[in-house]
Amino acid sequence: MGDKLKIMYTEEETNKRIRELGEQISRDYGDREITIICILKGASFFACELAKRIDNPVNMEFMRCSSYGNETQSSGEVRIVLDLDNPIKGKDVLVVEDIIDTGRTMKTLVGTLKNRGANSVKVCTLLDKPERRVVDIKADYTGFVIPDKFVVGYGLDYAQRHRNLPYIAEVEV
Ligand code: IMP
Ligand code: MG
Repeated sequence: MGDKLKIMYTEEETNKRIRELGEQISRDYGDREITIICILKGASFFACELAKRIDNPVNMEFMRCSSYGNETQSSGEVRIVLDLDNPIKGKDVLVVEDIIDTGRTMKTLVGTLKNRGANSVKVCTLLDKPERRVVDIKADYTGFVIPDKFVVGYGLDYAQRHRNLPYIAEVEV
């Protein structure tokens, strides 16, 4: 509602960076098909923009995880609340996430997807807050590395607000 927001990356800056990521991913995967797993809800805006910038055949899948806690701090327990409806055995999977914070969500997910027999599992995140990491996980592709600030927009929310902002902003406390 009356949250005070300060722009961190404009719409133009964000879209430019996503185009660059798409080009890099297209180069790296050659002509292989990529199975994008978009992590709902936050990564949905990013995943769609990214997929449009990838030249390879792309297969879009969706998962939703929840980590319990309050609005700005996760508790550590990660659960899959919406699972894939297609097998990923033998697929080249690219997990697309909005932000890696503690890293718990991504660490759990990558482990699960590897166990299901994917040919490869890579991670692409729009934002990374490395200062907050509590488990060892690195993204293969990162849009922007940011300081330990709470951000919204481009899919990211603060108590379900601000996801639809076309830019990335810091919530000022
Ligand atoms: P992790 O398991 O701690 O890495 O949690 C990642 C999840 O926490 C993301 O998918 C977001 O849903 C949420 N999150 C972490 N930092 C932020 C932020 O600055 N803004 C909005 N959501 C965040
Ligand atoms: Mg999320």
